[in-house]
Amino acid sequence: MRAVQIKKHGATETVEFMENVPEPQINDTQVLVAVHAMSINPVDYKFRQGMAGFKGEKFPLTLGGDFSGVVAQIGNAVTTLKPGDPVYGYAFVLNGGSGAFSEFVASNEKNTAMKPVNATFYEAAALPLTGTSAVQSLEEMIKIKNGQKILIHGGAGGIGSIAIQIARKKGAFIATTVSAKDISFVKEIGADIAIDYKTQRFDEILRDYDAVFDTVGGETYLRSFNILKKGGVINSMLESPDEKLVNKYDVRALSQFTITNNVRLDRLKEYVDSGDVKPYVDRIFDLENIREAFRYFETEHHRGKVVLRTQNVNS
Ligand SMILES: NC(=O)c1ccc[n+]([C@@H]2O[C@H](COP(=O)([O-])OP(=O)(O)OC[C@H]3O[C@@H](n4cnc5c(N)ncnc54)[C@H](OP(=O)(O)O)[C@@H]3O)[C@@H](O)[C@H]2O)c1
Repeated sequence: MRAVQIKKHGATETVEFMENVPEPQINDTQVLVAVHAMSINPVDYKFRQGMAGFKGEKFPLTLGGDFSGVVAQIGNAVTTLKPGDPVYGYAFVLNGGSGAFSEFVASNEKNTAMKPVNATFYEAAALPLTGTSAVQSLEEMIKIKNGQKILIHGGAGGIGSIAIQIARKKGAFIATTVSAKDISFVKEIGADIAIDYKTQRFDEILRDYDAVFDTVGGETYLRSFNILKKGGVINSMLESPDEKLVNKYDVRALSQFTITNNVRLDRLKEYVDSGDVKPYVDRIFDLENIREAFRYFETEHHRGKVVLRTQNVNS
């Protein structure tokens, strides 16, 4: 089968499109999926580069986590899926999968679920990590409620664009930070206030917010404390709680590590199938053009997700 692999960590040039990779073997709790589409997440280039916390041990390694496709085979202990099922999931190698950027993937049953009916294979592939990150953050960590005010950073990104739509469904008042060219996009998907982060300071505009969902980190995270009301909450995808700021502003700070399990994938499917959430696919690349896809994802502005496809796909 054809797959995208690395033999060492490094820049885009370390990525190789291989023609004759053996199909992955599944264990009792995995499914083998004929992959139709995949999407790129920041963790894929962090892993390719071998950044701290994202190092592989045995090479070659197949890159990628997010995928959609059709179940080809199931392990002996698998009960929730069967051959022929259209699915989506997360098969990152550091998560126990065989790597998604490949024509076939071995994915843990617990990280795989039926794909939304209301989504194409391309759209379904755009969802697993970002969509479950948004579900976990808003429903389980922040627990956003009707009428509350939330600031969502990076509103046109993979996570931010899904988070805005979930927060809108929950009835929240939503402010978001984006580049100027994304202002009308985030307003269309549900933001009440859109702030151009390159020319405006959100902490000089917003006050007394109930919650912040931080998908950016760094000084954006630090300045976010200032806009929270007492007792408010900030959840970050990148930063550990800053205790000094927690005490100074009398707020709660949370740090999220996303687990893309089938409970959250099923919840995401409900949002998509009800029409409340729509994934945004920015561009689709053929799998063999993976280097160009990484270059585009890492160096050019993308809105929503960058998707890859195999020759298995027809929609
Ligand atoms: N902890 C976990 O388990 C976990 C899980 C998933 C993801 N993450 C991390 O979460 C982060 C976001 O992921 P993603 O998939 O949403 O990435 P993404 O699709 O690349 O989106 C990031 C967004 O942030 C925007 N942005 C950049 N700098 C900004 C700033 N200073 N202020 C406001 N917005 C800014 C970008 O806009 P422009 O393009 O216009 O600059 C882009 O739209 C990544 O670092 C990722 O590694 C963590």
